[in-house]
Amino acid sequence: MSRPIDLRSDTVHAPTAAMRAAMANAETGDDGYREDPTVARLEERVAAMLGKEAGLFLPSATMANLIALMILTNRVGEVAGEESCHVLAAEFGGLASVAHLSARSLPGVRGAVDLDLLARALDPAEERLRPPVRLVVAETTHTAQGGAVLPMAHLAALYQLCAARGVPVHLDGARIFNAAIALGRPEAEMARFSDTTAVCLCKGLGAPVGAVLAMPRAMLEQALFFRRVLGGHMRQSGIVAAGAIVALDTMRERLAEDHANAQALARLLAALDARLVDPAEVESNLLTVAIGALGRAARPFAAALAARGVRVSVLARERLRMCLHHEIGPPELPRVHDAFAATLAAGR
Ligand SMILES: Cc1ncc(COP(=O)(O)O)c(C=O)c1O
Repeated sequence: MSRPIDLRSDTVHAPTAAMRAAMANAETGDDGYREDPTVARLEERVAAMLGKEAGLFLPSATMANLIALMILTNRVGEVAGEESCHVLAAEFGGLASVAHLSARSLPGVRGAVDLDLLARALDPAEERLRPPVRLVVAETTHTAQGGAVLPMAHLAALYQLCAARGVPVHLDGARIFNAAIALGRPEAEMARFSDTTAVCLCKGLGAPVGAVLAMPRAMLEQALFFRRVLGGHMRQSGIVAAGAIVALDTMRERLAEDHANAQALARLLAALDARLVDPAEVESNLLTVAIGALGRAARPFAAALAARGVRVSVLARERLRMCLHHEIGPPELPRVHDAFAATLAAGR
């Protein structure tokens, strides 16, 4: 059989030849001592893209989010956000076990938290028996909501609401580059509605590893402190930072192709059965497939797809997820369609 089509995540791809060449030739130093010039170049570059004063290179977006939580709350109180966001729902409880915070999970629509409920949560007079909300998180694109892009007006309103209460905002922009491409706006326009912004370089951009937390310069020392606590200093990390710089140089604009491919795939699947996916809800490179709507369970369905050479991830009992990335293009899409069609027809 030909090589499987891997749609489980936009992190499953290999670095490009240009990234490998840059990594092989990278100038490095010990970033534990802040002496790696390539890491410094990457941090400055990402901070500038986000309109922030400083950046810190980290092994993962999970760590970037956790460090932001620790800096912005001083590890007291609650973190509020839309209930399915990555920080509250998918980071294995690090906010509680490591940062000593509790979660204030609020409902929302397509990843945008309900602002009326948020206003209530931020009002100490309304919630006297709960710890105060010390931080609000927003996420764009929103992973659990199928790559939904938060509207700029929502980000602005959320930030204004929080500022009026003196509560900081952290933006989990692991896929902010996808959001920027989808909106046709620079990343900084979204990041300005946050105090700190985390971005991931190894998702759609295709770098081998790494994330950056962007923040005001005054926060950098504390961020470095918490990076130490978490063991996130990576020493000669210019090697991987060099790949990330090439990713920023060469992979950002092409994210539009992933979005177009996700849209094309959604249409192919919707043509098989309109209950599977609504193409109008596919805004970036992710799509979720409501396989449960057809009375099929996600796990065996994914296993049957894998046997036909298509790998997808299981989001829940009734939902599958597929992520488009630079190794999947229009030639692969008919094979994905055919694997779905055959698995649906097989009835198991
Ligand atoms: C929105 C969001 N934030 C954070 C993360 C965590 O990224 P990492 O795997 O780099 O820790 C992810 C991972 O998919 C994500 O989707």
